[in-house]
Amino acid sequence: MPARPFTTSSSMWLEPATKPWLNAYTPRPIGGDELIERAADDWRRLAASAPPARGIGELLITTLEYASVLPPTLYGAACAVAAPPAPEGYVVTRGNAGDLAVVGADAAGALYGTLRLLVLGPEALLGGKKTVVSSPDLSLRMLDHWDNLVPHPVMGTIERGYAGDSVFFENGDLVPDTDRIDDYGLLLASIGINAVCLNNVNVHATEATLVGERLDLVRAIADILRRHNITTFVSVDFAAPMTLGGLATCDPLDESVERWWRETTDRVYSVVPDLGGYVVKADSEGRPGPFDYGRDHADGANLLAAALAPHGGLVMWRCFVYNHRQDWRDRTLDRARAAYDHFMPLDGRFADNVLLQIKHGPLDFQVREPVSPLLLGLRETRVALELQIAQEYTGHAWDTYFLPTAWREVLELDVAGDGGADLGRDLVDRRGSAIVAVAGVGRDWNWTGNTFSQANLYGYGRLAWDLHEGTQTIAQEWAIASFTGDADLHEALTRILLRSREAYENYTAPLGVGFMVTPGGHYGPNIDGYEYSPWGTYHFADRDGVGVDRTPTGSGYTEQYPPALAARYRSLEDCPERLLLFFHHLRYDQVLPQSGVTLIQRIYDTHFEGVEQVRAMRRDWETVREQVPEGTRTDVDRRWQAQEHNAIEWRDQVCTYFLRHSGIADAAGRTVYP
Ligand code: GCU
Repeated sequence: MPARPFTTSSSMWLEPATKPWLNAYTPRPIGGDELIERAADDWRRLAASAPPARGIGELLITTLEYASVLPPTLYGAACAVAAPPAPEGYVVTRGNAGDLAVVGADAAGALYGTLRLLVLGPEALLGGKKTVVSSPDLSLRMLDHWDNLVPHPVMGTIERGYAGDSVFFENGDLVPDTDRIDDYGLLLASIGINAVCLNNVNVHATEATLVGERLDLVRAIADILRRHNITTFVSVDFAAPMTLGGLATCDPLDESVERWWRETTDRVYSVVPDLGGYVVKADSEGRPGPFDYGRDHADGANLLAAALAPHGGLVMWRCFVYNHRQDWRDRTLDRARAAYDHFMPLDGRFADNVLLQIKHGPLDFQVREPVSPLLLGLRETRVALELQIAQEYTGHAWDTYFLPTAWREVLELDVAGDGGADLGRDLVDRRGSAIVAVAGVGRDWNWTGNTFSQANLYGYGRLAWDLHEGTQTIAQEWAIASFTGDADLHEALTRILLRSREAYENYTAPLGVGFMVTPGGHYGPNIDGYEYSPWGTYHFADRDGVGVDRTPTGSGYTEQYPPALAARYRSLEDCPERLLLFFHHLRYDQVLPQSGVTLIQRIYDTHFEGVEQVRAMRRDWETVREQVPEGTRTDVDRRWQAQEHNAIEWRDQVCTYFLRHSGIADAAGRTVYP
């Protein structure tokens, strides 16, 4: 029996203290598969720190293949389900004598079912039923780490990381404590994540060697993650044939380049035979790519796809491709158009093992963006929806921001605008789609910096498994699984999470206009910080109005959407108010059709409201904080203080900025500094 305790804080969803059922059941793996044995081991390992309990019975863990050896009642119940679980899915069932069985469609399913039972317990999972069946919506549920092998002079060991150093790498090597990687694997498996890319999409010189000299690191980490059914991917440098291979070119149509990738990939797979494949950021923010040779992105992606295909590997080709050296004087350019303009004409030209990895919005993980039209448009190409758990623009690890609220809206978009399938359904129905998120995990004692940010990782896993899972359920599950306490504690935590997105949105950039953040770091306000920069993220505020005209009178971006959506976004009346300034440039005295107040008044109102919402969340926390363990309690206290300060700073800078520009006072007479 493994004795090593799980190395986490007292407030993660695997917290044994919240799980009295762990000692009530004795796990018994059946079938001999390593993952099944692992599931039983995980249960025992956490049970060692769980409250003692009176034994109820056995927890039988197996797969459909071996299910016939189960006692008749359990076997009967497991087989009586209307539809058997799909690959990686499971059935959990309770027998008359109180025994439980987890029956996976395969060994991975047995692992996921056991861990789900471990997190929630039989009562919450079965909810009075005898049997539950669950299968993942998508077969690839991935996390992208933006970790560097050696600290980057500006970005540190994790690009956009707010929770300490990399869990994988330290000073060009593996971290000394690889047990923490093992625990991380368990944490991810408990929410059904089955793939991890180890390194930053910006592949610097040292990191490029992960497919060369430092392949040993990939092997070491893959060996650990595999125990948890997690497949390892690496980010590669498109120019690696030159930087690693010494060739004079990385032209995707050059034969020597093709050979280099083939031979390199063969070598990689001889060391890590089950590598998932490569993640690629090309022609983006200064990275090399096929454009350097007058080739297109299908040429680039298919080059790598050909090298990976014999090994069953995938290319995750990112579509975050835009001109980051834009002239702010040139108002004909619109960065939001870029991904669709580059990739849509290539639909159908990508190899079968290429997935186009597309950020959920056309810009960059802002608080509010419409769904990327590229995700809706591509029909002949496999796609991966890319989300960001790291809170780059959403409060870092200081401000509480429950991301599933925003992700739910993305997944719920009615794709054709005709009341038909939503994006979640559409992704499931298409061939071989996937979901990916930028990780946000580091070596901090609680993995995510802000303890509340754990709920984002948890929520990502839950949504990746079930694209229609509700945010209330996710928030509640996380709170109950993580903290021992009374119902009022769990209710308060759930309430805080569910209100946090709206609060943050209210005190930051108004009505979908985006950015207005401090350049570089992206925390805190700087209204004109990017206004005259080359990055293409402008709000165009002047004395009369603000916002970006993306209708046909402006950049015409709206026309990249299916007709019904294009019509909705084009129209001032029908465009969702929260997106108005994303799509329209409006006068300050324009009365907004949905709220019925002027634009300037709406800006004032939301910003004052945002600060009050933060204060209300903070008060809610204060009523229950005593129930939370000391370390977490004081750390969270500190984060609230920072968030309130940040919210006030945002409110005052935004309100003053618009007062100075418009000369129109707040009708409610609140303090707006002149
Ligand atoms: C953002 C982020 C970068 C990151 C990039 C990407 O621009 O600020 O740090 O590299 O997204 O997704 O590639």
